[in-house]
Order: sequence, then C-alpha cells, then structure tokens
Amino acid sequence: MSDSLQVSELVAGYGKTTVLNDISFSIKPGEFVALLGPSGCGKTTLLQVLAGFIKPLSGSLIVEDTDITELPPEQRNMAMVFQSYALWPHMTVFQNIAYALKLRKLGKAEIEQRISHILGLVNLTDYVHRSVTDLSGGQRQRVALARALAVEPSLLLLDEPLSNLDARVRASVRHEIKALQKRLGFTAIMVTHDQEEAMSMADKIIILNNGKIEQAGTPESLYCSPATPFVADFMGAENKLTGTVLRKNDGTELFLDQLNKTVPLTRTSGDRYEGKVDVYFRSNEVSLSFKDDSDEIDHQASGIVLQTAYMGQSYRHSIQLGGSTCVIDHPVAINEKSLIQISLPPEALHIYPAASEVESA
Ligand SMILES: Nc1ncnc2c1ncn2[C@@H]1O[C@H](COP(=O)(O)OP(=O)(O)OP(=O)(O)O)[C@@H](O)[C@H]1O
Ligand SMILES: [Mg+2]
Repeated sequence: MSDSLQVSELVAGYGKTTVLNDISFSIKPGEFVALLGPSGCGKTTLLQVLAGFIKPLSGSLIVEDTDITELPPEQRNMAMVFQSYALWPHMTVFQNIAYALKLRKLGKAEIEQRISHILGLVNLTDYVHRSVTDLSGGQRQRVALARALAVEPSLLLLDEPLSNLDARVRASVRHEIKALQKRLGFTAIMVTHDQEEAMSMADKIIILNNGKIEQAGTPESLYCSPATPFVADFMGAENKLTGTVLRKNDGTELFLDQLNKTVPLTRTSGDRYEGKVDVYFRSNEVSLSFKDDSDEIDHQASGIVLQTAYMGQSYRHSIQLGGSTCVIDHPVAINEKSLIQISLPPEALHIYPAASEVESA
C-alpha cells in the first residue's frame, strides 16, 4: 500500500538559480495527481526533487511520518519515468527492466514473470530481447514506463510519459496506467501538457507557473472555478475580453468593452469584483446566432466571422468582436464575413481584476 506525501515550503534550483519557490501540497495514498504548467515552469525539477536527484535548498518532504528530505533516491520507494526516457542504451528491453528488480533482490523467476506481464500491458512482448537503441521513440517511452511500473513503487513519478505515443496507443496506455494504479494502489504524479489528459486521469491537478503553485484542486474545481486568469487560460478559457463590473441596487452588471454591451451577473459568475476586469470564456460555452440586420440597437454587440474550421463535432469560428478576436464553436459552419450575434451566459464568464489595474496598483 502506498503512503501519503507532504511537501512543505520547498525551494529548489540549480546552483544560484532558484527554480521552485515555496511549493507546498499534500497527496493522499492512492491519489493520482496531474502536474500541469508551461514549458520551463519547473515540473521536471519538482519530480527530480521528489525522487531525490536534486537536493532542495529548503523545505521538507514527509512520507507518512518519516522525513525523507535527506534520503538518497534508492532509499525512497519511488520510481520515475524520465522525460528523456533515460534507458541504458547498451542493454535490451529485458535487461533495462530487470536491472532495478535485481537491485531489489528479486528472484529470477519472479523477475521473468513481472517483465513478461508488464511488457504485455504496454504491448511490447515481441521486443523483449531487442536492444533499446533499435526501438522507435514511442516504443522506448513504453519501455521506460514498463521499467518504472515493474518495481511496483509506492510513489510513481511520470514526466510526460505519453508524449511520444500516437493517439490510439496513448488512449490505451492511459487506460492501463489508471487500471494498474487502481489495482496496485500506488500514488502517482504525472506531468502532462494536455489539459484533457489531466482531467481524465487525475484525482487532483496542480498547476505550476514560474516555479510556484498557481492553483491545486479537483479537475472540477479548476475547470469551473479557476482562481486566476492563468489557470482559466490553461483550463481552456482562452478567449479574453475586457470590461467593467458595475454594482447597482438591483444587482451587479458587467459592461463588456468589445461588445459595447451590458450583461447581468449572477453570484456564481463572479460579482465579487468592482471596476475594471478581464473576462475569460471557453469557445464551447457561448452561443452564436445570425444577426438580424434590422436590429440596429444591438449593432455593436455583433461580430464578424473571420474564419471557420471543422472540428468534428462542431465548427470553430474566429470572430472579430470590436478590437478583439475570439474563438467560438457552433454546430454548423457560418460563412466568412457573416455578421453574427453572440450570447454570453453569465455562468460561462470567468472574471478577474484587470491585469492593467493589478500591475499599476
Ligand atoms: N540542469 C540544469 N541546470 C540549470 N538550469 C536548469 C537545469 N535544468 C533545468 N533548468 C532550468 O530550470 C527551469 C525549469 O526547468 P524544468 O526542466 O523543471 O521545466 P519543465 O517545467 O519540466 O519544462 P518542460 O515542459 O519544457 O519539460 C528552466 O528555466 C530550465 O532552463
Ligand atoms: Mg520537463
């Protein structure tokens, strides 16, 4: 059974450069955590610190009740799948996986049985005696995953383990990791760039930005209530408008600059601010309708279709709204240059104090 992990006020980096700043979070036994963030924000560094390859400058790592901050990697019951795979090039698939099992003093029969089982799971049975240098990128990635899974660690650290797999293999390996995790009960932290992958696999998502935790929580809480514009954008609310929140006796309203239009706000849609705001929304949470040309009053609230792309279930439209361009999905294609009307339901809007105001404050 795996153990809980408590990370407190972790600071780490390379030489004099600090990469991770004041990182604190905890993970319950058996939880699956997705670590999301832009390139260079410190995801790999964080996994390396957890695995013991980088010594933190300050802060602590506690597993159950034991402080493991000073323990060398081999004394932590963890396994890591490296972003670069880090396979031993002079060894075969079998030897790569067997190496750590021998170190753990497992018997020959048990090693063979584990390897054959795990290679079956990642679809590499026929490659067991192939040298890893004679494998494709995706196959190497699966060997790296198999090698980590074979030691049955209590904490599995996965650094973008699926990035080199094609969509179909990716879906099945994703499913296998989840199924194995349920069956063996290990705790996992997986780095991914893919918001959908994080949502579908994780019990908890941690969003890292510039070496700091921007927000941590369930997929639902991050998707529905992103705490910052950065999280909103990362969780798919890519459209941005600017506006002003106005409090009135009979409720709160939002004036949107690009639409030159006022929409009423509900409690849930963020009437906690007043004044200049930035507004984020997802392309599939607002709707389009054709503009009625006789409707002069709403003229400013309309947009112009710039481009249309087929997305399978719907068409994605680039829409010119005042001085901004937004992306909005619609079930049927609307011709370029058409005038359209958009309706923004208040519950689809994620509202934050305007970045321009925050910076000057
Ligand atoms: N060995 C190193 N020495 C010095 N700086 C490093 C080293 N490795 C990484 N860095 C720097 O630390 C920062 C964080 O790097 P890290 O590899 O953790 O990012 P990441 O979030 O994993 O990015 P990616 O998504 O591109 O893999 C970057 O600015 C990077 O340049
Ligand atoms: Mg990385």
